[in-house]
Amino acid sequence: MNCVNNFLIHDSVVIITGGAGLFGKRHAEAVLDGKGIPVLVDISEKAINTALEGLRALYGNESHLEGFVADITKREEAERVRDWLLEKYGHIDVLINNAANNPKVEGYAANMKAIQFENFPLKMWQEDIAVGLTGAFVCAQVFGDVMAKQGHGVILNISSDLGIIAPDQRIYRREGLRDEEQTVKPVTYSVIKHGLIGLTKYLATYYAEKGVRANALCPGGIYNGQNEEFLEKLTNLIPMGRMADVEEYKSTILYLISDASSYMTGSTVIVDGGRTCW
Ligand SMILES: NC(=O)c1ccc[n+]([C@@H]2O[C@H](COP(=O)([O-])OP(=O)(O)OC[C@H]3O[C@@H](n4cnc5c(N)ncnc54)[C@H](O)[C@@H]3O)[C@@H](O)[C@H]2O)c1
Repeated sequence: MNCVNNFLIHDSVVIITGGAGLFGKRHAEAVLDGKGIPVLVDISEKAINTALEGLRALYGNESHLEGFVADITKREEAERVRDWLLEKYGHIDVLINNAANNPKVEGYAANMKAIQFENFPLKMWQEDIAVGLTGAFVCAQVFGDVMAKQGHGVILNISSDLGIIAPDQRIYRREGLRDEEQTVKPVTYSVIKHGLIGLTKYLATYYAEKGVRANALCPGGIYNGQNEEFLEKLTNLIPMGRMADVEEYKSTILYLISDASSYMTGSTVIVDGGRTCW
């Protein structure tokens, strides 16, 4: 058999949380390339509409794709998505846990003082964990159960290179600012991304006999117009000497959600230009 066919996911229903964000849209493209049906679940209606419009412009108006405005931290909202999809398609095949509260510290957020570890507000901790970890847990519960009953399915958790290593806070420092004015990568990012790897191993073993696989992807940073000073500091930490192009994860995504990875579960796949080797 031609192994390239294993990458096709004909009519698989693929839920992508945070599907209207920078990365989520690219996951949707990978799903469409594999002939599956992406389901963008996002809290932002405006972003969903823009994403769906962009995908239709690329793949044609007749392409199969869905968008839902839902807050994945709320179980009843995930259940609403589940019920609607089961009514329409009768199956849910893949869950990509991708949503995050994503402070772009390299963009020098206005609240950077607040995200220093000493001052990190409990409220922000709870909000970040609610989306990145609790949301992944809720979706795995609601959609994983459908998959287990079907006897097949895939859960893919989007972790990060910072799910493997600690952030190097030196790259976020700016000349001329006092310590308390410096921005840092928030503690929640590390905790969530490491936690998703734990969740992956738990789900992989819990569901192994039910035909549901679970894996984690640890992508390195995507180039998205970051400033030169930051880019230089970050790329010095990456053996390949550059950030990723947003297109470069699509084939790994399709591999991990298709039968091409049929014997893989509980794995942590690192795609980071070599950063975590150093
Ligand atoms: N961009 C990168 O360089 C990079 C690198 C490694 C890992 N990642 C991970 O990839 C994932 C996506 O990153 P991104 O850059 O596309 O971020 P993004 O901020 O562009 O997208 C995140 C999406 O999640 C949505 N969201 C937030 N809270 C939600 C909720 N409660 N319910 C439903 N949706 C919600 C947001 O509206 C947004 O569209 C994140 O988990 C991120 O940590 C990103």
